[in-house]
Amino acid sequence: MNVLIIGNGGREHALAWKIKQSSLCDEVFVAPGNAGTAAIARNVAVPVDDFEGIGKICKDHNIGLVVVGPEGPLVAGIRDYFEQDASLSAIPLVGPGRSGARLEGSKDFSKQFMLRHGIPTARAKAFLEANLEEAMEYISTCKPPIVLKADGLAAGKGVIISLSQREAREELRQMLVNRKFGEASAKVLVEEFLNGIELSVFVLTDGERYVILPEAKDYKRIGEGDTGLNTGGMGAISPVPFAGPDFMRKVEERVVVPTIQGLKKEGIPYRGFIFIGLMNVGGDPYVIEYNVRMGDPETQAVLPRIKSDFGELLLATAKGQLPDLPLEVDDEHAATVVMVAGGYPNEYKKGNRISGLDQDHDALIFHAGSALRDSDVVTNGGRVLAITGRDGSLDGALKKAYDAAARISWDGVYFRRDIGKDLLKLA
Ligand code: AMP
Ligand code: GLY
Repeated sequence: MNVLIIGNGGREHALAWKIKQSSLCDEVFVAPGNAGTAAIARNVAVPVDDFEGIGKICKDHNIGLVVVGPEGPLVAGIRDYFEQDASLSAIPLVGPGRSGARLEGSKDFSKQFMLRHGIPTARAKAFLEANLEEAMEYISTCKPPIVLKADGLAAGKGVIISLSQREAREELRQMLVNRKFGEASAKVLVEEFLNGIELSVFVLTDGERYVILPEAKDYKRIGEGDTGLNTGGMGAISPVPFAGPDFMRKVEERVVVPTIQGLKKEGIPYRGFIFIGLMNVGGDPYVIEYNVRMGDPETQAVLPRIKSDFGELLLATAKGQLPDLPLEVDDEHAATVVMVAGGYPNEYKKGNRISGLDQDHDALIFHAGSALRDSDVVTNGGRVLAITGRDGSLDGALKKAYDAAARISWDGVYFRRDIGKDLLKLA
């Protein structure tokens, strides 16, 4: 079977690496991919939102499975496009259609969905610009910190946590009236603040059955000690020491099962990943958000721990035939450190030559924003590499990741030195 992966990040490099190990897999194609995927698979220069171009690759290369990495094409309806085209509709695809992708594409939809199905989440109310006065009055009844969320996709930036009612009113005006996040903030949720510790849980479902993949914790802020601006993610670890069997049982019973049953009851077909962003509040899980894809960089820590044939699992998901078998997971720890271009998440330079990649590293090196220039690998994005160490202990996994990171460099390279440190005493 030939497999096509859509995307160009570290997540997609990790997917390509894992799927290549499947007994079902002949050749892996990545559209558009990066310098890392070019080394293990065939890159095709088609952007993720060019559905016609993607359809053509499927026909030209006899693709037997499509795996969609990022949310953009899912929310834009790549599955619906495939299903409506007679020459593409038989190709199994991992990822929900437009209706299911609303779980990520609209925070108001996902909040209402959770409320309809009794899934624990923070209280929230949605407002449009036309209800500005009402929204301002509502904020006067909220106890800070106050969470404001743009309804639509905002590249992970659409959440503001205000420490006072005054600041929240000003931010809300910026979002609703000045469209701080464009049309994504034409509607805003004002949400109660949840005090706890976050983790990410990943589910693969065919709409009927599901498997829960290893959980992970990611580190979103640019600065050490979780300070500074939000990023796509600066590191991840798996397993998560505070997510023991009791907690995970609660997650399955209170969140995973009602989510899948809720989709079914609402007649929303769903074949793909559900990424559940959770807050552990005093031992109880609350949903912060749903994503309809895997996380980046969580994928780079989660997939290396899966021992089952992942290509088989993905194909079964896409065909609606997920087996009732337990997932085989390695007990080892995985720790991922993301190396970024200096300046990220603000402006940064591209095109800097990366050195040290070809040494012998006791770690997995996944590429994100990288490209080939002549015979060099150069930086081509904010998040450039994700380095995953694996070991029997979290400490050992971190050490392997950091040892490799220390030997790779480019002009302006930056990475956080404290990934996983907060959890070492629990691990
Ligand atoms: P999101 O874009 O929904 O992932 O939100 C970004 C970040 O904001 C999350 O990872 C949380 O750290 C934080 N956040 C979102 N909602 C809440 C909430 N209700 N209470 C506390 N923190 C939140
Ligand atoms: N690392 C968070 C995300 O992929 O959304």
